[in-house]
Amino acid sequence: MNPSTPVDTAHSPAAAQVDAAITGRQSVRAFLPKPVPRELLTHLLEVASRAPSGTNTQPWKVYVLQGASRDALVHKVCSAHDAIRDNPALAAEYQEAYDYYPKQWVSPYIDRRRENGWSLYGLLGIGKGDKDKMHAQHQRNYKFFDAPVGLMVTIDKIMGGGSLVDTGMFLQNLMVAARAHGLDTCPQAAWNHYARIILPHVGAGDNEMLVCGMALGYADPADKVNTFRTPREPVAQFTTWLD
Ligand SMILES: Cc1cc2nc3c(=O)[nH]c(=O)nc-3n(C[C@H](O)[C@H](O)[C@H](O)COP(=O)(O)O)c2cc1C
Repeated sequence: MNPSTPVDTAHSPAAAQVDAAITGRQSVRAFLPKPVPRELLTHLLEVASRAPSGTNTQPWKVYVLQGASRDALVHKVCSAHDAIRDNPALAAEYQEAYDYYPKQWVSPYIDRRRENGWSLYGLLGIGKGDKDKMHAQHQRNYKFFDAPVGLMVTIDKIMGGGSLVDTGMFLQNLMVAARAHGLDTCPQAAWNHYARIILPHVGAGDNEMLVCGMALGYADPADKVNTFRTPREPVAQFTTWLD
């Protein structure tokens, strides 16, 4: 912070606005076709780039897909996703560059994951046996949930695991800044398996690995999927106070 900037007290209007942008962010899974001006996207990326990174390495790289480039990627990945449904053996051809999720799920994470998944599917009226509906809902990821802007975020493979932490901070900045400007987002690891389609499509170098994708746009307030709210553990559950 600039030393001359006055420090906000906890309940100042500025603090309340920051809190509101953070707590008002949610993963949105239905967007309006309304385009996002390029100047605004540039502004959001500029704000997000104030994220800290180890020794200021700024490892993130962002590909912004709109229009024909977005639609062509959606087509390619939806086709691959459908092909895997028809022939599950094909899944072996689509490996993610890093394990976003654990290879072996244990409690309490598996419990939270299940609660999250079944709550969302419950809201959408998708039952446990509804494989077609599940596939279609999963496929919504590969349409960026109809958002007009799709982002693909990469880092250089040569960087360490810390760069994933740094890039996470960049992504969070981006999502919070978007919220403050009336936009919404959904970070998407669902794309990671399809890196071998995505990276050549966006023109990424062989040295790059896909961190995740992100849908960005104006939320569709009429779609019930956007009423989905996720719980959080209380502070006392994840904090140990040492005096
Ligand atoms: C890196 C990352 C990847 C995610 N990938 C997906 C995804 O592929 N599809 C999806 O619908 N949600 C995805 N999510 C959203 C999470 O499910 C969501 O953040 C979590 O359930 C908490 O809900 P909230 O974002 O509404 O607070 C992802 C979140 C993060 C941080």
